[in-house]
Amino acid sequence: MSNFGNQVQFNVYQTMTSPDPERLPVVYEDWEKQARDVLEDGPYHYVAGGAGGGKTMKSNLRAFDRWNIVPRMLRNVDDRDLSVNLFGHTYNFPLLHAPIGVQSIIHEEGDLGSARACAEMGVPFIASSASTVPMEKIAETMGDAPRWFQLYWGKDPDVTASFLKRAEASGYSAIVVTLDTPMLAWREYDLKNVYLPFLLGEGVGNYLTDPAFRSKLEKPPEEDPTAAIMHWTQVFGNAGLTWEDIAFLRKHTNLPILLKGILDPEDAKLALDYGADGIIVSNHGGRQVDGAISALEALPQVCNVVQNKIPVLMDSGIRRGSDIIKALSLGAKAVLVGRPFMNGLAVAGGDGVKEVMKNMIADLDLTLALSGKRSVEELDRSLLRESE
Ligand code: FNR
Repeated sequence: MSNFGNQVQFNVYQTMTSPDPERLPVVYEDWEKQARDVLEDGPYHYVAGGAGGGKTMKSNLRAFDRWNIVPRMLRNVDDRDLSVNLFGHTYNFPLLHAPIGVQSIIHEEGDLGSARACAEMGVPFIASSASTVPMEKIAETMGDAPRWFQLYWGKDPDVTASFLKRAEASGYSAIVVTLDTPMLAWREYDLKNVYLPFLLGEGVGNYLTDPAFRSKLEKPPEEDPTAAIMHWTQVFGNAGLTWEDIAFLRKHTNLPILLKGILDPEDAKLALDYGADGIIVSNHGGRQVDGAISALEALPQVCNVVQNKIPVLMDSGIRRGSDIIKALSLGAKAVLVGRPFMNGLAVAGGDGVKEVMKNMIADLDLTLALSGKRSVEELDRSLLRESE
């Protein structure tokens, strides 16, 4: 798809004589402000907050300022290509919707609104284990559009195996295994607000519909929802897992397995040794270890170990097109975006997610062209200078 950015930009400017007074925001900070206005304290802090004092969340953003793009001139950038190939599929754009649980606390359309936006834009949706509606319902909404499934790898192997089977059966084409959340971190605002949405029955849709999960309950969740949710609290995380356990996942799925949450190059090496098909460099948007290294800072070291043997993706802190350019130039094959899409969802449901996505891609396309590059495949470190 060529010149996406010019088209989006033109569609806005051509309304100059009578701009729509109800139009959605463009500026990232305006989305943030409007999301703050529409959300109650509990959901707002659940989404916008991080672990501890929020230091990693801030350093995720600051890390992008250490790298500067040095644009090149006169390089015929008239016809651009933003597509990437991952695991044999060509995707139109180098970005994916990060797995985000409990989207029903943000807007009544919840996961289905975001999934629809992704389907309309051709951006792969990574459905979270902690979605409020089951993965099959998301799949149904998306039709043939690309989607991956994110696994929270809990204590019950039967549930894990069942999730993998269900994902494959409902058309998800890759599994993202989140390694950084064997338990929830110390989240000051959620504790202050006494807010954990799962206890209200949000974000447990995959579990309550799962045959393996249900078989462990004395009564079905429809009869005793409280007991079902209490059982969920017992099996959600698993702090006992080790690298050897990866073999279990391999045994239960033929889909590519990406490990999300890798920050140390030594772990990247282990990921290769244990047969991962991809890595996602991430600190969960600063929601797990406060004081953890920023994801962008960790990225080049991980790529250095991986040497293109498997794709490395990244998330945590992507806000604008130039952030995507920087991450791809430092070795990421594609990026995941989290909170910006959730601001869109809060403000205008699925349409808001689509608007944020469209604008971010337009910004990416224009910034790519103005940097002197015609395709995202051409990006490498030579485009960047590190600040002194
Ligand atoms: C998340 N994230 C997340 N990750 C995951 O693997 N499974 C999940 O269910 C969730 N849920 C979730 C909820 C909320 C409200 C947020 C904000 C984040 C983390 C997510 O996938 C991603 O790593 C970060 O959001 C990326 O950082 P940015 O883009 O939000 O800065």
